[in-house]
Amino acid sequence: MEIVLNDLHTTIVGRSILHYPSLPSTMDFAKKLAGEGVGEGVVVLCDEQTEGRGRQGRKWFASPSSSILLSVVFRPTLGQLPQINMLGSLSIVHAIERLAGIKSTIKWPNDVLVDGSKVAGILMESILQAEALQAAILGVGLNVNLDVSSYPEISSIATSLSAQAGRDFNRDDVLRTLLEEMDTLYQAVKRNEDVYRRWLPHVETLGKTVRIKSGQSVEEGLAQSINPDGSITLRRADGSLVTIATGE
Ligand code: BTN
Repeated sequence: MEIVLNDLHTTIVGRSILHYPSLPSTMDFAKKLAGEGVGEGVVVLCDEQTEGRGRQGRKWFASPSSSILLSVVFRPTLGQLPQINMLGSLSIVHAIERLAGIKSTIKWPNDVLVDGSKVAGILMESILQAEALQAAILGVGLNVNLDVSSYPEISSIATSLSAQAGRDFNRDDVLRTLLEEMDTLYQAVKRNEDVYRRWLPHVETLGKTVRIKSGQSVEEGLAQSINPDGSITLRRADGSLVTIATGE
């Protein structure tokens, strides 16, 4: 069902918002629409997912109506693709600051943390046809009024806006703010402005020793650089360098 969000001041993102009580995953629905040719900026939103997914085959947990669960269709160039990923996490950092006055950070590649706990995750999937990029689907799961303490599977690693601010949030307000921040950043991407330079200062991973799953192996090292294509370069204990792409 298409919904109208009052007072939404965007030009592309959210020009159409399709809202469903329950979907298997907003990613699949948005991908289907993108394959059928919908314009960019279409948002697929739901209150509950039965097969919500995260990166690296993980499940994404959200109790009904507790979270913002959405996917946005973008039609960027191949060169703009890393910046679509970055605008996902950066728009959440901006939205949390505007809504709650709370500072959040980004854990590479794209988790949004408050006080070291995950408040939001980003998943980007693309549609390629004969090596040409047809669309990028940006999925966002943002814990809004989620009582993480009631869910042992995530309570030690996750948080929510309500847990951090000590009050509940109106989900329409959160949605509106998030879509506006995304739209502003997408305009910047389209003007070929450097979103990477805006995103990087919020990434807390730089200079830390981290363990990252890369394909079948796990790499450990000091995060030496995070690069404009979104990849990370680690210095291993033996001094050698390894660069890991976002998608691995
Ligand atoms: C991660 O941190 O691993 C990414 C999580 C992305 C979750 C969102 S919720 C809306 C959209 N639909 C999904 O199935 N996943 C993304």
